[in-house]
Amino acid sequence: AVPDSLVVVSNREPYSHERDDDGEIRVRSAAGGLTSALDPVMQSRGGTWVAWASGDADMAVADEGIVTVPPSDPAYDLKRVPLSDAAVQGYYYGYANQVLWPLCHEDTGRMWTEPAYWEQYRAVNEQFAEAVDTVADAGQPVWFQDYHLALAPRVVREQRPDATLLQFWHIPWPAPSVFSHCPHSDALLDGLLACDVVGFHTAAYAEQFLHCVDSAFPAATVNTDTGSVTYNGHETRAVANPLGVDVEAVRERARAADVASIRDTVLGDSRSDPSIRLALGVERLDYSKGIPERIEALAHLWERRPDLRGEFTYVQKASRTREGIAAYRRYRADVVDAVERVNDRFGTDDWQPIVYTEAQLDNETLAGLYRAAEVAVVTPHRDGMNLVAHEYPAACVDGDGALVLSELAGAATHLDGALTVNPHDIAAIADTVEAALELDTAETRTRLEQLQNSVAALDSSEWVARQFSVLK
Ligand code: G6P
Repeated sequence: AVPDSLVVVSNREPYSHERDDDGEIRVRSAAGGLTSALDPVMQSRGGTWVAWASGDADMAVADEGIVTVPPSDPAYDLKRVPLSDAAVQGYYYGYANQVLWPLCHEDTGRMWTEPAYWEQYRAVNEQFAEAVDTVADAGQPVWFQDYHLALAPRVVREQRPDATLLQFWHIPWPAPSVFSHCPHSDALLDGLLACDVVGFHTAAYAEQFLHCVDSAFPAATVNTDTGSVTYNGHETRAVANPLGVDVEAVRERARAADVASIRDTVLGDSRSDPSIRLALGVERLDYSKGIPERIEALAHLWERRPDLRGEFTYVQKASRTREGIAAYRRYRADVVDAVERVNDRFGTDDWQPIVYTEAQLDNETLAGLYRAAEVAVVTPHRDGMNLVAHEYPAACVDGDGALVLSELAGAATHLDGALTVNPHDIAAIADTVEAALELDTAETRTRLEQLQNSVAALDSSEWVARQFSVLK
């Protein structure tokens, strides 16, 4: 059962305070899956959320780093951890996103391990642990989130041997042969094994974690049947606890959306002939997302199916992300180039094959766009879960819509009804998008129902309770 009150610890904060151009302080709420699952629980149970003070006015409005949130109707404390520029560079842009991110997405060629990255990662994890120590009451469980915070549990455990500590790892966990590329693999495992429960999106990730522990620490007792490991006298359970979306909230937004006008706005000058069929991709501009292969696949499709030119448009909604890292800047440039090349090659005066937008869309507009699209294409090389694959079917309230899904996304383990594809197989992506466009009405309905049932089974409202249910 969910405890009466808890401490959540994450890199990103659920609410940030930013100063706008006229000096006015505005509060912004985060939109990701983590916040939409945990914020309602924190609002009903109370407690403290500890996170990086990333907004430029965050500390100005806080008292000893603490603000009560949501600002409109305060229900819990947000304890902000201010980080120096060097810390942000080393811990966030460095270790978290140039070592752990590529490592766990099995893209070790992109790993770059400056010594300062690890030093800062350790120091920031200690800083988070200290913040936890100042806010956590005795007996209050502490739940760490994600790859930014692998070491903090060990630090807290040393201060509080009897504390209840949990972790949820939101990205994939790689096989031992990949994990061994990391020069700090033992320290990372040791940090996580200070927890009572470590959650993952799939059973395969939990199992790979246990295999990594087994090969790193011969003295540990690992039981892959029960998912438990005993290490230095402490038992940790590694569990699959997939996180989905708030299905009813997505459906409501989709129902409320003015689909025709959203379609017009997004398609803009690129002609919004209502008969044009749409496919859609929605992602951060992250090199794990497989966007260039998808664009190449679409070019193949338009090449061999001239009848689809002028008939079918692909909309790419992209968000800029982690631009302090060169690989991300290059990836964005590559995606933009690829879009331009395809548009130059196939575009006409009345039709633009790919509509690319970096506009920030609110959730309702996004839900309307999902509804307008006949096909969603989600083809990451690797992805912990991928919540677009959940949101899209949930938003298809008209009873039509097909999902093309990478077999290497966590979501593929859980969702029935998708058309799955190898994200590196350009010819197969082209064929699968084509098949999605050609599904008959009956099969579209059957598949969508399967998708909607799978998505409902993982509704985010049960996620927190499931993680705590593992505790004895
Ligand atoms: C991934 C991580 C999340 C993170 C998100 C956005 O999905 O698992 O923890 O919130 O990326 O990344 P950012 O670096 O912008 O926080």
